[in-house]
Amino acid sequence: MPTDPLTPVPPPPAEPEPWSEADFTPIVSFLRNQIGISLESHRMGLLQARLRSRLQARGYPSFTRFNERVLKIDPKGPGMQLLIDLSTVNHTAFFREPAHFTFMAERLAPLFKDPNAGPIRIWSAGCSTGQEPYSMAMVLAESIPNFNPTRVEIWATDLSLEVVKAAARAIYGTREVAGVSASRLKRFFLRGKGPRDGSFRIVPEVRDLVKFRHLDLRSSSWPLPNDFHVIFCRNVSIYFAEEERMNLLNRLALYLRPNGWLAMGNGEILPAVPASLRKVAPSIYRKEV
Ligand SMILES: C[S@@+](CC[C@H](N)C(=O)[O-])C[C@H]1O[C@@H](n2cnc3c(N)ncnc32)[C@H](O)[C@@H]1O
Repeated sequence: MPTDPLTPVPPPPAEPEPWSEADFTPIVSFLRNQIGISLESHRMGLLQARLRSRLQARGYPSFTRFNERVLKIDPKGPGMQLLIDLSTVNHTAFFREPAHFTFMAERLAPLFKDPNAGPIRIWSAGCSTGQEPYSMAMVLAESIPNFNPTRVEIWATDLSLEVVKAAARAIYGTREVAGVSASRLKRFFLRGKGPRDGSFRIVPEVRDLVKFRHLDLRSSSWPLPNDFHVIFCRNVSIYFAEEERMNLLNRLALYLRPNGWLAMGNGEILPAVPASLRKVAPSIYRKEV
């Protein structure tokens, strides 16, 4: 039927007010459907503010345009990575929850004495900016007599590419090393001079013990060894729904060798403990043979 030239053309659907809640809705859906992240409301507010300032700095007029021009066109590309980097909370510290490090060193010490024991494998899953795996390396170096670095592999992985890159640089500021003892600072850190005053870099002997990888623990394959003596997965499962958390625990148990240990964060509430794991200390589990 020919259109009546006098019929007014309907206006295109109005875009929501830039930077409003309605404008942010497609980002919330993208996070949930494409990345599997459902943030609590206060963290969603934080993400909204952080994303807005990044997008405005790059000249985007609204969340909707970012969604149309970036996320829809390349859903697995840099836009997705930006959202991951901004929505994950990367709080960490050297020697955080120190009892876990002491426990690890005490249990691993006998293996270092046994010349026939193969490589000693440790994994920091959700390593953030590297303080956790470097603390593992430092504790072993200082507590194992005649520590031989070729005997140990420390793997460190995180979902956020930004933090993995920062971790590999191994450079920290005065605030980040504030809790590190003077003797450890002297032994394991190089103090920046001149324009680098106030920065501290981990010494190469400790840096070289850690292999960093970018890895989403939700992905179906983990290209890592599956015979770890120790896995730390602390303060990571807070991002997971209850069912995903159980799935994560079951998979972590599969990546432990018999009698290996898994440390979770002290404040983490686990829905249940897989049958293969037994609690042996606060938030530490041993894989039964
Ligand atoms: C709060 S930090 C904890 C860092 C360290 N484990 C600690 O306890 O100090 C949580 C880390 O988990 C990472 N993370 C969140 N979801 C993840 C996932 N699906 N796969 C891998 N890492 C994840 C975040 O990027 C963040 O760096």
